[in-house]
Amino acid sequence: MAADLLVVNIGQLLTLAPRHPGGNDTPRRGAALADVGLVTGGALAVADGVVVAAGPEAEVREAAGRAAEVVDAGGRVVLPGFVDPHTHLLFAGSRADEFEQRLQGLSYLEIAARGGGILRTVAQTRVMGEAGLVELGAARLDRLLACGTTTVEVKSGYGLTVEDELKLLRAAHRLHALHHLDVVPTFLGAHALPPEFARDADGYVRLVIEEMLPAVVEEDLAEFCDVFCEQGAFTPEQARAILEAGSAAGLVPKLHADELSDLGGARLAAEVGAISADHLLCASDEGLRAMAAAGTIGVLLPGTAFFLGLPYARARHMIALGVPIALATDFNPGTSPTWSMPMAIALACVGMRLRPAEAVVAATLNAAHAIGMAEAVGSLEPGKVADFVILDADDYRAVAMHFGVSLVDEVYKRGRRVYSSRTGVVPP
Ligand code: NIG
Ligand code: FE
Repeated sequence: MAADLLVVNIGQLLTLAPRHPGGNDTPRRGAALADVGLVTGGALAVADGVVVAAGPEAEVREAAGRAAEVVDAGGRVVLPGFVDPHTHLLFAGSRADEFEQRLQGLSYLEIAARGGGILRTVAQTRVMGEAGLVELGAARLDRLLACGTTTVEVKSGYGLTVEDELKLLRAAHRLHALHHLDVVPTFLGAHALPPEFARDADGYVRLVIEEMLPAVVEEDLAEFCDVFCEQGAFTPEQARAILEAGSAAGLVPKLHADELSDLGGARLAAEVGAISADHLLCASDEGLRAMAAAGTIGVLLPGTAFFLGLPYARARHMIALGVPIALATDFNPGTSPTWSMPMAIALACVGMRLRPAEAVVAATLNAAHAIGMAEAVGSLEPGKVADFVILDADDYRAVAMHFGVSLVDEVYKRGRRVYSSRTGVVPP
């Protein structure tokens, strides 16, 4: 077998290979969450954009034979590209003034009740065309790539009319086609109640179910259907109706659950067969147990807790209960204006007491599971897509320590170098 690319002299290679066959078919839980598949003195061989061998250097050289290109990692760390399974990437405008109001003591919900929050971003996003959103989105995806993210979920939700939601999802599809990153789209028509329906929540829920969902499915624009279940957003009953309708139409449910209050979102997510329940800052033990039993992934967003100054989700408790957990940025203009998965990892370690190994698995393999992409990405095993990162460090734990800065030196997507810290993003 001949490889196109051989990466050698890897000080620490994190393969995330499972300890038994088929072990990566489901997200990691409990003690297995810390299993990064660490190989010291490793190598990685790639052919046609796919991993053909990953492990100790002598074994990989033997298996791979001659390679067209050899890259010397210089004794540094190689790990799978990060998967960010929860972002609101596509929005126009900025909410810097609201940030300052919060610092002076107003809460996020108080600001929203005064006409700020999501609805302000909706107003700014509605007046931007698809091309403008694609341009903004492409520049943002460059930033994600520079932080080591190679696959990203992108939600709609700043349109809230049939046409504006379709516009956002079409923009996400264009970005998937034109950018290095893989973009996985989620329909979040139930993100907020738009001003036209301020006194008619049920009417808006009907619009979501009867007009938006069929249009999204007709154009095959989304994989997942999400709802913001919260006081001031959508009730558990409305969320259930939307997620069940989405499910019947072929969209897998996700849920913004128990972020600012406990409305029973965790249990609802488990009951409707959601692939993930996200946020969970206020989730009850009962809800978390239901998630563990159903295998619902808890997508934790420590950037949001950090930025809102709220207590972090109880990650250690979730791990102890057997909930599979993943990490994401929640990148959005109001509650988490960061696109950095390394920052999410650092916050998860310091704020939620994850071990660096657990945070890395949560940000790669389990994150891939949370968006149905684990067959392709999230670990460096033969047959999987060769998406990987070279860190400027000789110990992988450094990625969790150097908060607010990037140790990502090179990023490879499908076996091609697409980013280098010296020369930036390679044009697609
Ligand atoms: O995930 N929770 C709902 N949506 C976002 C906030 C979006 C915004 O404030 O613009 C979130 O936190
Ligand atoms: Fe969110």
